[in-house]
Amino acid sequence: MRALTWHGTHDVRVDTVDDPEIINPRDAILKITSTAICGSDLHLYDGVIPGVLPGDVLGHEFMGEVVETGSDSTLKKGQRVVVPFTISCGGCFHCQIKQFSACENSNPVEKQDMSATLYGHPMAALFGYSHLTGGYSGGQAEYVRVPFSDVGPIVIPDHLEDEKVLFLSDILPTGWMGAENAEIQPDDTVAVWGCGPVGLFAIQSAIVMGASKVIAIDHYTHRLELAKQLGAEIIDFHKTDVREALMEMSGGFGCDAVIDAVGMEAHGFAIDNMIDIAKQKVGIGADRASALKQAILAVRPGGRVSIPGVYGGMTDKFPLGALMEKGLQVRSGQTHVQRYTKDLLEKIEDGTLDTTFLISHRLPLEDAARGYKCFREEQDNWTKVILKPGMERGPAA
Ligand SMILES: NC(=O)c1ccc[n+]([C@@H]2O[C@H](COP(=O)([O-])OP(=O)(O)OC[C@H]3O[C@@H](n4cnc5c(N)ncnc54)[C@H](O)[C@@H]3O)[C@@H](O)[C@H]2O)c1
Ligand SMILES: [Zn+2]
Ligand SMILES: [Zn+2]
Repeated sequence: MRALTWHGTHDVRVDTVDDPEIINPRDAILKITSTAICGSDLHLYDGVIPGVLPGDVLGHEFMGEVVETGSDSTLKKGQRVVVPFTISCGGCFHCQIKQFSACENSNPVEKQDMSATLYGHPMAALFGYSHLTGGYSGGQAEYVRVPFSDVGPIVIPDHLEDEKVLFLSDILPTGWMGAENAEIQPDDTVAVWGCGPVGLFAIQSAIVMGASKVIAIDHYTHRLELAKQLGAEIIDFHKTDVREALMEMSGGFGCDAVIDAVGMEAHGFAIDNMIDIAKQKVGIGADRASALKQAILAVRPGGRVSIPGVYGGMTDKFPLGALMEKGLQVRSGQTHVQRYTKDLLEKIEDGTLDTTFLISHRLPLEDAARGYKCFREEQDNWTKVILKPGMERGPAA
């Protein structure tokens, strides 16, 4: 089959690789109908996540048609399903308490050492996201093997087209959990760093949850415009001093809750960020946490800090004093996708959530490498890229 494979920093290619096969009785095989490129994929593309090997098939946001099932799968051939990016067994302690992204059984024992050393405990497995998280082949491909297919996949009614539901795989629940972790109350002022897909869905979720004011921060005009259309007030961090603006917009009080939807590759020319960029370039694993640091200073004492943005290693000059002295609450994590899919599918169906406003490009899978390059280098206009296996390549491709 054809699949998008990683070969090194800024080098991804669509290659012919082996078709996936059923390995365990709970597996299913999907024929992919739609898959997307995520901001998290850019961390792999930029080479800042360890444990990715040449030839690895990427992609953790996908949906498709069930074409083969193991003897213990509960899926049926022909069903259309969306698959959570977190691979979870459903039976371990963490899955039982709905902390699906902390599943103890999905990351094979022989792959656990690296994350156990880094984090004190091994990570759960994720699709297409390095050998730190199991080394499973991802879904930017014609076919994918789905382990524990009786737990994760959600069956989609025929009347809902792919583009409405594809983001149940990751960014919609991620934005939702980002807002939920901010424990939003009706009178709250909430600030969201990053107007990428995750930030935009966090903004939409915060508004649905009743925040009275949501402030979006980025430096891309079009992305900020999308945030504005959702009902947010906006700050361009290249033009405005973010801290001053937030104090003013929150009546001199500070934000009640802050959401970091940027993660480990923050942009900007603040001195600490420039040092972190240099360190990341020479392979001294340093997360660029300048958005998070700004958020911690901007939130009011006793406020809440939610971190859906991905971090992988260590970071320097972290404002631990502000965190402690202001008595902040912090919540974070890879999304417990399986916890949210059913409710969010209902919110898509009843029109509470709009899931298509951010899609900017649809490309054939064969053009996936171009999709990565443009999603990284022309972020403002390439807000979200969907890849479709089998789609005709246009003349421009
Ligand atoms: N927790 C999870 O399970 C989960 C799931 C999906 C994605 N993520 C993470 O969420 C983050 C966002 O994902 P995305 O798909 O929206 O990515 P993206 O790269 O499309 O968007 C990131 C946005 O942040 C903006 N930004 C950069 N530096 C900033 C700064 N200093 N202040 C304000 N804005 C800044 C960028 O301009 C960009 O618009 C990534 O780190 C991604 O890995 C986490
Ligand atoms: Zn993702
Ligand atoms: Zn589990």
